[in-house]
Amino acid sequence: MIRIKDILDHPEEFEGKTIDVKGWVRTRRGNKGVQFVALNDGSTVKSLQIVFDLSKFSDEELKPVTTGSAICATGLIVKSMGKGQSVEMQAEKLEVYGTANPEEYPLQKKGHSMEFLREKAHLRPRTNTFGAVFRLRHAMAYAIHKFFNDKGFFYFHTPLITASDCEGAGAMFQVTTLDMANPPRKEDGSIDYSEDFFGRQASLTVSGQLEGELGATALGQIYTFGPTFRAENSYTPRHLAEFWMIEPEMAFYDINDNMDLAEEFIKYCIRYALENCRDDIEFLNEHFDKELIDRLNFVVDNDFVRLPYTEGIKILEQSGKKFEFPVYWGADLASEHERYLVEEHFKKPVILTDYPKEIKAFYMKMNDDGKTVRAMDVLFPKIGEIIGGSQREEDLQKLQGRIDELGLTGMDWYVDTRRFGSVPHSGFGLGFERLLLFVTGMQNIRDVIPFPRYPKNCEY
Ligand code: 4AD
Ligand code: MG
Repeated sequence: MIRIKDILDHPEEFEGKTIDVKGWVRTRRGNKGVQFVALNDGSTVKSLQIVFDLSKFSDEELKPVTTGSAICATGLIVKSMGKGQSVEMQAEKLEVYGTANPEEYPLQKKGHSMEFLREKAHLRPRTNTFGAVFRLRHAMAYAIHKFFNDKGFFYFHTPLITASDCEGAGAMFQVTTLDMANPPRKEDGSIDYSEDFFGRQASLTVSGQLEGELGATALGQIYTFGPTFRAENSYTPRHLAEFWMIEPEMAFYDINDNMDLAEEFIKYCIRYALENCRDDIEFLNEHFDKELIDRLNFVVDNDFVRLPYTEGIKILEQSGKKFEFPVYWGADLASEHERYLVEEHFKKPVILTDYPKEIKAFYMKMNDDGKTVRAMDVLFPKIGEIIGGSQREEDLQKLQGRIDELGLTGMDWYVDTRRFGSVPHSGFGLGFERLLLFVTGMQNIRDVIPFPRYPKNCEY
């Protein structure tokens, strides 16, 4: 199967040859003598121009060749006279697989709003914009696997259905086969989960980290890459109820090793996109975000700032800026605070470290001050938090103390990593869609995943 990308990337190999191309019609225009069809097959954002000489094709034959229709065109590849393309096809034969009625096909003209296209999410992959976004999504997934594989990390599969709440934020989706209308009950009236499918209460995972730690403390360096579920009632342009997360976990890494890896990793992904997805990025730069390429280059070329939370709070307090959410030592940072530090103060990505223990998860390593933990969040322009991670508490007593303090139960399997052969170790989680927001320049996280899941929406 010849794909349009091959033809446009290597026109010299195809010039003078008669071939078949198959794809979807983006536009058809022309006059009584000749018709031009822009054909796209999804392999690239660019379309191949097919020229139909009306002395060879009747109006009747070309009638079903409408925007959105699927065709096979057979013809000679020749140098193009028109600008914008090196070669085009002179059609000799046409087969229409399926027409698309112009009265009904919703993607007629160009320049639909993102909101409109979100309502047509089943068809939006057929637009140039979403084609570019989903090709980039694929390329980033590949780059991530390549990065870790080349470094000797192992892809470790952690469960999607779990009985533990890693982040302790209580934002889990329950998984059950019990009859909702009439669940079995214990004597005290509470639901008897021993009769549920797993014999206990189960949920969709909010993070593979805890199981990832079991892998890292055996294989040394692992990463997970899979769907993650959070029942947060967040309608923001940066939250999804179902998103993908990459979580590397490394034995013998301290927080500095962890930060070095995070910075190298994210720069690698962005560089990969710049080098391998040029057409798509140029398209997005031109149509959506004129600063996209500059911003990507800037991140690749500059060191990230590394700063303790306490220093960050001082900068925010002294900024004189009126924030919607108050700033004080102990406050969890909102996106507006993170973006102030990154976009206005430092004008660079920032890794904020050593957060107050109260606003971070139980597994993070306590600092000597007894107040802060060895957390590290990577903050990015336009996005805010793109990575969250930490050095983990490897001390059995301290970890058990935190677990008891927070009243967590059923953690014996996790604590065993500290009971037997405990090691210093670290890891982090990169939100895949947040990375894609950055790399594509899209404004809303719902536009970088094919089928977004968010409150009150579960279409398809
Ligand atoms: O900061 P978070 O909650 O960290 C963890 O889950 C740790 N277990 C990671 C680790 O240390 N292994 O989430 C990590 C990242 C965030 O920085 C963000 O990029 C993304 O996951 N994220 C979301 N992305 C989209 N929608 C949501 N609702 C997200 N919640 C977190
Ligand atoms: Mg976080």
